[in-house]
Amino acid sequence: PEDIRVYEFAEAIKRPMSEVIKVLFDLGLMMTKNDFLGNDEIEILSEEFDVEVTIVDPKDAFNYEEDLAQDIEKDPDATKRPPVITIMGHVDHGKTSLLDAIRKAKVSEGEAGGITQHIGAYTVQQNGEAITFLDTPGHAAFSHMRQRGTDVTDIIVIVVAADDGVKPQTLEVIKIAKESGAPVIVALNKMDKETAQPDMVKGQMAEHGISPVDWGGDVEFIPVSAKSGMGIDDLLENILITAEVLELRANENAMAKATVVESSLEKGRGPVATVIVQNGTLKVGDYVVCGSSYGRIKALIDENNKQIKSLLPSYTAVVVGLNEVPASGEVMMAMESDKEAKEYAQKRHEYDRHIELSHSTKSTLEDMTSMI
Ligand code: GTP
Ligand code: MG
Repeated sequence: PEDIRVYEFAEAIKRPMSEVIKVLFDLGLMMTKNDFLGNDEIEILSEEFDVEVTIVDPKDAFNYEEDLAQDIEKDPDATKRPPVITIMGHVDHGKTSLLDAIRKAKVSEGEAGGITQHIGAYTVQQNGEAITFLDTPGHAAFSHMRQRGTDVTDIIVIVVAADDGVKPQTLEVIKIAKESGAPVIVALNKMDKETAQPDMVKGQMAEHGISPVDWGGDVEFIPVSAKSGMGIDDLLENILITAEVLELRANENAMAKATVVESSLEKGRGPVATVIVQNGTLKVGDYVVCGSSYGRIKALIDENNKQIKSLLPSYTAVVVGLNEVPASGEVMMAMESDKEAKEYAQKRHEYDRHIELSHSTKSTLEDMTSMI
């Protein structure tokens, strides 16, 4: 494509820029370092320098999602996994309250005691089936995951306050949902309020292509109240019905792959990352790589602050043991050995640096695809 510059090409094939410019000059092309190369020029240069050149979108170079989808599709040992739900909606419409209410209603007694801290990801059981929830957006993770093609969301729950209706961020969320292709369920929240007008909200949503089932459309609208707990069972039941159709699968015995939802540097613990497992089982003691960071898992801490030994597909926990804080949306992968993890992290580091140097967000020469 036209957005590869001369110096980027030189960098990619690890040859001095002057040599590249000279070859172009000998071909009768007067080009400087910042000029863009066309496909023909790239082809000629590749022959001259005897290099094989593949042009890929950097997003594709580490396209985990596609790899993963293929891995699982081909895997005869993949079995049913729980759905991962992302809660989205306009500010103050009750996303966090709803998550808290679900958690309170579903976490077995004794465990729930004194949980006040905000938890961004957790799994609940409904009639013996697990459901994992993520609190977004405003969450950088979501856009990172989307950029990296590592979005873990299976179903989107759009929360709309029934007393407030469709707002700018609701529209944004509708757009995101449509782009992602994930099925949508609408939670009509704050139904305990006298000023709630569910039909008004349905009308507004229908205007934007989210048509209620009871109006002949294809989206379930579930009246709920995060305050009173009303409708929560209904919402969870609908999530499970929707998930059933998706036939979500993963192989518990595959090499683990997980996605980072949030990450930070914690006193005493060092770099920590909240992850959701997409395939395989993540275990304490696993060698892992996560972008350009790597390490051996020292501890897995679940949403109840309990140390656990292993984490199954679609479940979430905090991982301790990485050498650096990974970016949200990054993929964590189990490796055979410490050496392998280190090498992969190093390659990824070089790759990231290359992308940075090339200042290219769209496309770049990439000869590292083969290393995955
Ligand atoms: P942001 O994270 O800031 O976007 O907000 P949010 O969508 O997470 O909303 P949050 O859960 O923080 O709730 C916003 C306000 O609405 C709080 O004051 C809640 O107490 C209130 N609220 C949430 N759900 C309900 C509900 O079902 N009924 C009533 N009456 N109030 C609610
Ligand atoms: Mg919130």
